[in-house]
Amino acid sequence: MGSALLGGLLKTGFVSAQDVVATVRTTERAAEVRAKYAVPVTAGGNREAVHQADVIILATKPHVTPKVMDEIHEQLRPNQILISLVAALPLRVLDTKARKAMPIFRAIPNLPVIVEEGATAICNNAYTTSSQREYVGNLFRSVGVAVEVEEDQLDAVTGLSGSGPAYVYMVIEAFIAGGLKMGLSREISTKLAEQTVLGAAKHVRTTGLHPAILRDEVITPGGTTIVAIHELERLGLRSMLISAIELATKHAQERGKALVAKLETHE
Ligand SMILES: NC(=O)c1ccc[n+]([C@@H]2O[C@H](COP(=O)([O-])OP(=O)(O)OC[C@H]3O[C@@H](n4cnc5c(N)ncnc54)[C@H](OP(=O)(O)O)[C@@H]3O)[C@@H](O)[C@H]2O)c1
Repeated sequence: MGSALLGGLLKTGFVSAQDVVATVRTTERAAEVRAKYAVPVTAGGNREAVHQADVIILATKPHVTPKVMDEIHEQLRPNQILISLVAALPLRVLDTKARKAMPIFRAIPNLPVIVEEGATAICNNAYTTSSQREYVGNLFRSVGVAVEVEEDQLDAVTGLSGSGPAYVYMVIEAFIAGGLKMGLSREISTKLAEQTVLGAAKHVRTTGLHPAILRDEVITPGGTTIVAIHELERLGLRSMLISAIELATKHAQERGKALVAKLETHE
């Protein structure tokens, strides 16, 4: 996720390569990221990177992040901005781990930030100013859409848009398989499938209409679309996706609770 966000931010010019320092765990990954984005990347250089930063973006796995915070807390300063992309790790834990009053944001972006079409939800702790909130909003808006939410809604965001690209990739994959089954070439199936998803999403956004109204516009009485929709309803497409988001949200909630409980036991 960190790499995707870096790629998007460099592409839009929100940041320049000379203003970025990236860190990873392994030298192999450092070489990969350096080659891909032409930015300085260090393995094991978290403290040095934080020391020279105005804005720090944390994109480590939830169970690793508390250790990273313990490693960098002495370099953190109240005039920096810390943005955590980490699902499941609450602001109060980040506040405690920072060991000082400083502006901290949580953001749940998704992978399409790499193509400047990300969907990000953001919340903040008590030490942020309106100009810092604007800056962080602009950072994520430069690579897509950004909304502000209450922190207790971030697990639902994780279930919907954080994991959501994976569901849509599956839909595109299935469209392609359907085209192949019906004799279209892979190339043509892929082109038509990806554009159908892109076009439908753009249509919803541009018209501002409820998707059910737009779906109805595609239906001709006795036509092919209603036959297909009947089959999708019979197999429970909508119900399936609602349940998937519900399950993913609950999983994020439970993982968060387990992580906090584990951290509190060790303190
Ligand atoms: N994936 C998504 O779509 C998505 C969406 C929203 C939020 N998130 C959040 O983003 C975070 C990262 O997820 P991911 O899927 O991108 O995981 P990932 O692919 O495993 O990336 C984690 C990165 O952290 C680096 N790292 C591990 N330990 C480190 C340390 N001590 N110091 C510096 N870097 C270290 C790893 O470096 P090495 O490669 O060298 O091990 C790796 O590059 C998670 O907390 C997740 O909740 C992900």
